[in-house]
Amino acid sequence: MATTQETQKTETPAAAEAETATLDVFRYIPEEDDKPHTETYEIETFEGMTVLDALIKIRDEQDPSLTVRHSCRMARCGSDALYINGTQRLACNTQVSELKQPIDVEPLPRFDVIRDLVVEMSEFYNRMESVEPWFQPDHEPETGDEYLQSPENRKNIDTVLDCIWCAACTSSCSPAASDSDFPGPAALAKAYRFYKDEREGEETRRRRLEMLENSHGIYRCHTQFNCTEVCPKNISPTEAIMEMSRDAIKEKLRFWR
Ligand code: FES
Repeated sequence: MATTQETQKTETPAAAEAETATLDVFRYIPEEDDKPHTETYEIETFEGMTVLDALIKIRDEQDPSLTVRHSCRMARCGSDALYINGTQRLACNTQVSELKQPIDVEPLPRFDVIRDLVVEMSEFYNRMESVEPWFQPDHEPETGDEYLQSPENRKNIDTVLDCIWCAACTSSCSPAASDSDFPGPAALAKAYRFYKDEREGEETRRRRLEMLENSHGIYRCHTQFNCTEVCPKNISPTEAIMEMSRDAIKEKLRFWR
């Protein structure tokens, strides 16, 4: 589903044919700048150029002080999530030719800026850690040393396994911005990954649900689907959160009967 911002900043034939592109880039070097500002760069484009390619070209050819975090350049490491034309996207997975110009490039909203396009990720990682994203079986393996998982159960978590911790979803989430105790969509999708894993056992499943079932947990989600819309890996944290919320309510009803 396209976001409102995407609808506003949709591709135009003119942009697709352009040999140059104009980028308005957020700049802030704390040692030098009193406050953030925007700098405009014009670059020559090439076929298949991504926004990350464009930023690297600017850094290499026009301004070596421009700072952007990146690594794999193939939508795997999650390090270059940015706010591009009003939407959270991976810079390496966003074609310059598909964007309205000038292309606005900003750091992820709701994160503290370290420098230029690089944001502080510690709080995001703390949120991830808060859901205990590691395997915690409540029993010994039934056969040998391995915990075997059925193909059907594996399918349950297929939907969330592709998360690359880019934080695009958490940046788009207003409850995450207003409640630092709320794990946010990425962490709750990770919680769902373990919650649905049959190998941990019933005791751990219940404990995980109890851990998330509070006003700063799964019930804090406003089901706005912002996270789902911006996820570059097509994960729907909202649906995962909704499923855990439904299960939590059913558990309550079961015990009240
Ligand atoms: S550089 Fe790794 S996801 Fe974009």
